[in-house]
Amino acid sequence: MKNKSEMAKVKLYLLDERIIELAQNPKNVGKIEGENVYYTRIVNPICGDITDLYVKIKNGIVEDAKFLTFGCFVTIASASVLTEVIKGRNIEELLVGEGEEIIERIKNLINEQLGKIPKQKLHCPPASVEAFLRVAENYYNKEDKGKIKKIENLLKIIPSYYKEGRGEKEENVL
Ligand code: FES
Repeated sequence: MKNKSEMAKVKLYLLDERIIELAQNPKNVGKIEGENVYYTRIVNPICGDITDLYVKIKNGIVEDAKFLTFGCFVTIASASVLTEVIKGRNIEELLVGEGEEIIERIKNLINEQLGKIPKQKLHCPPASVEAFLRVAENYYNKEDKGKIKKIENLLKIIPSYYKEGRGEKEENVL
């Protein structure tokens, strides 16, 4: 019978090397304090894992982004990529378009850097997408209430993304 560390190695083999590398060396871990910082906490509805996102947005530009998470390797890697890809970008540009088109674009910005995600873990990256949308909601709530409706409509679509891969057994992947 395999011991605990041997089992962990077996589980890691099921993840793309890019995910393992990002999860072991994540970027932008921590909190941001001060003015123009928008915060959200996401509890993944499938597994209960938590992601906190802090984004500093000034004049529409994402000046900084950091995260903390109590989540799996895929969630750590996803949040690391999200914070990297939104930094320096205009929030309007990130949200250009309509409905699923926007969610797919943000999701793809993350997923294309993660490689193949096991089915059991498809519910993990949506937490980073939702965190970004919740932060955008907070930002527009302060700066431009006319844009809130668009974000609310996007948030209504997010639950279906968490359901991707649902039902696959969790125990084989970290
Ligand atoms: Fe819970 Fe990935 S965040 S299993």
